[in-house]
Amino acid sequence: MKNKINRRDFIRKNSTMMAGLGIAGTLPLIAFTDKSGPLKAVRFGFIGTGGRGRGLMNNILSIEGVEILAVCDIDPVALKAAQKIVTDHGQAKPEGYSGVTDYEKLVQRDDLDAVIIASPWDLHTPMAVAGMKAGKYTCVEVPAAYSLDECWELIDTHEETGVECMMMENWSFRPDNLAVLNMIREGLLGTMTHAHCAYSHDCIDHWYFDRATGNDRWGAKYLIEHNRAQYPTHQQGPVISWMDINCGDAYDTLTSTATDSFSINEYFKRKFPGHPNGDRKYKQGDIVTTVVKTKMGKTIVINFDMQSPRPYDNRWTIQGTKGIYNEQRDAVYLTGVSPQYHSWEPFPPYHEKYQNRFAKDIFGGHGGADGVMLNQIVKAVRNKTALPLSLYDGVLMSSIGPLSEISIAKGSKSIEVPDFTRGKWKTNKPYFTL
Ligand SMILES: NC(=O)c1ccc[n+]([C@@H]2O[C@H](COP(=O)([O-])OP(=O)(O)OC[C@H]3O[C@@H](n4cnc5c(N)ncnc54)[C@H](O)[C@@H]3O)[C@@H](O)[C@H]2O)c1
Repeated sequence: MKNKINRRDFIRKNSTMMAGLGIAGTLPLIAFTDKSGPLKAVRFGFIGTGGRGRGLMNNILSIEGVEILAVCDIDPVALKAAQKIVTDHGQAKPEGYSGVTDYEKLVQRDDLDAVIIASPWDLHTPMAVAGMKAGKYTCVEVPAAYSLDECWELIDTHEETGVECMMMENWSFRPDNLAVLNMIREGLLGTMTHAHCAYSHDCIDHWYFDRATGNDRWGAKYLIEHNRAQYPTHQQGPVISWMDINCGDAYDTLTSTATDSFSINEYFKRKFPGHPNGDRKYKQGDIVTTVVKTKMGKTIVINFDMQSPRPYDNRWTIQGTKGIYNEQRDAVYLTGVSPQYHSWEPFPPYHEKYQNRFAKDIFGGHGGADGVMLNQIVKAVRNKTALPLSLYDGVLMSSIGPLSEISIAKGSKSIEVPDFTRGKWKTNKPYFTL
């Protein structure tokens, strides 16, 4: 295969190059800063400029040296608003692309270094594949893929082209989650044994259906046609690095169980009596619970919950042989360290002490996690190094969508999780934010 290369080879290749230049250290290249010389402009194109795309544009434009030269959206209102964001930041009006397949033209521009994709889910993989094939650093919103075929298409394209691609799982970069990662790496929690994570976010009235009319938005069709963990990556973002998944351990099997579908019909009866969507049959159950068993004998519970009325919640817990962190309680318990036997102690002092060095990059959306992530992306593109989150991690997180659907359809049968690293998880070394 032409130019066959994967992320680890890419890092190794560039580490050798850096050693040749007399630059200290090997892993990871994201530590390679741009302190020497003038700051090189990093030129982005944006595909999909709805709510998320424009939020990311606003954030990334506040990073020094970032330019946006092209934007693409089929909605003329969204396109115009995106162009205005760029001119409001004092830059030239970016060229607008508005056709359904115009993203293919945008990625071909030879004045772009990178593309950011924030379109509806079924467009993520085709757009990301087009970006990689055009040789652009490609960053795609979550989930990176909707089907298992798409998961493999992303991996195959990445390996065949040697082009960097990353799923923008921003919760991986949340400052508190990064501090927990540092604590784990310092050995405070012992050997990891179990994690719990959830995406509990009532999005029924703005993502799946229009808030004012109750009519379908692009997300509605997924609830009609599928029963799965529709949005499975925010939960797993930090867990993947906490548990060394894809670098020392790997998902082995999973089972998924869904409740029946209740909340969507009740929502319509309550909010829009008589609306035809209220009597429609939805395949999607209210809550999907997936249990993963890893090859090294650990377990992870992944909860999906996006249609019931409720406050936002991630319920991250990570447990090891020496202690436990609980995000909901904002607390830890460390055996032999915590002052009171079997009693929680507050996490904030630990957050302060074990802050990740990326914490200085906190700004923008999602409690600063978006800023931490975007800063690392810009540095990687500028320095032509690996993107901060491996595509193998992004694809694995995304695969829980289609895999959960298969398990649910088979009565919660245990099914195998594909090894997207093709065995490299055994020798890969931890890299995330190092
Ligand atoms: N990481 C996060 O925290 C986060 C938060 C919100 C949304 N998202 C993700 O971002 C993506 C977009 O979500 P959103 O809330 O912005 O939705 P949105 O509906 O506001 O925006 C999607 C945009 O894509 C455009 N689009 C549709 N087809 C297109 C095409 N062929 N070419 C170009 N543009 C096209 C639409 O016109 C729309 O403007 C989703 O995948 C979602 O999962 C991630």
